[in-house]
Amino acid sequence: MAAWSRLGGRLPAVAATAGATGLALATGSTVLRANDDALHPPQFPWSHKGALSSFDAASIRRGYNVYRNVCASCHSMNRIAYRNLVDVAFSTEEVKEMAEETEVEDGPNDEGLSFSRPGRLSDVMPAPYANEEAARYANNGALPPDLSLIVKAREGGEDYIFALLTGYRDPPEGISVREGLHYNPYFAGGQIAMARALYDGGVEFDDLTPATTSQMAKDVSTFLAWAAEPEHDERKKMGMEWVATFGLLTVAMFYAKRFKWSVFKTRKITFR
Ligand code: HEC
Repeated sequence: MAAWSRLGGRLPAVAATAGATGLALATGSTVLRANDDALHPPQFPWSHKGALSSFDAASIRRGYNVYRNVCASCHSMNRIAYRNLVDVAFSTEEVKEMAEETEVEDGPNDEGLSFSRPGRLSDVMPAPYANEEAARYANNGALPPDLSLIVKAREGGEDYIFALLTGYRDPPEGISVREGLHYNPYFAGGQIAMARALYDGGVEFDDLTPATTSQMAKDVSTFLAWAAEPEHDERKKMGMEWVATFGLLTVAMFYAKRFKWSVFKTRKITFR
């Protein structure tokens, strides 16, 4: 009796858990575990997500604008060189001009001294800080990670980046945010050292798309998805070519087999 009453106290909770799990499975959404310390990002309908879809070049172009004018003041992208942008979202002339606007430390020259020169197509995106210590010092001890591969380095990929950039809000009742941190339910632990970076009208797009917070977040996430996998479009195109080639080969092989076997399949064997 005592055991039953104890279980009875727990039964509603057990039933509720089972119900929630069933509902989550039925609706195909991710199960939020009690020990998760962050909100899972929703899945957004990215234009490049389909099996046959390529990146939206105009979005990459706008996304670069957002990175350059907002994120680049804290985040490096040391795996992306200016030449990588050519024919992806910009012409060679445009990229050359963009590179030349930056100043790059180079050296040694004939006298053994380092010197600065305008950037070239082969230079990587200029880093905002000289080293990790400088980056931490400027950011309250937190290190802004390099963004070249961030889409591959985080669960949820571009969904997570978008949710993170647009997820800043006031902390709920009862949660106190440590000084220097900002409440963001999508970040593990809910408190991130990066302040909200995107605000409506933060940049100006040259195709006159209104620069709303969500537009900028979408475009910069697309740009970062491209940066983490520049071969994405080529990969899908190659996949299509291989599937088409082997599809045709299969049909040809089927025909050839039937043709060669028709003699054996249609002959009549009689025993005397
Ligand atoms: C003022 C400096 C600053 C700016 C501007 C900035 N960030 Fe950050 N960012 C940080 C810092 C600092 C961290 C590390 C946060 C932490 O570890 O708590 C960070 C972390 C991140 C992370 C990693 C979060 C994780 O899961 O670890 C991403 C992604 C990111 N930033 C994207 C961006 C993008 C995209 C932009 C431009 C729209 C941007 N940031 C602008 C300072 C900045």
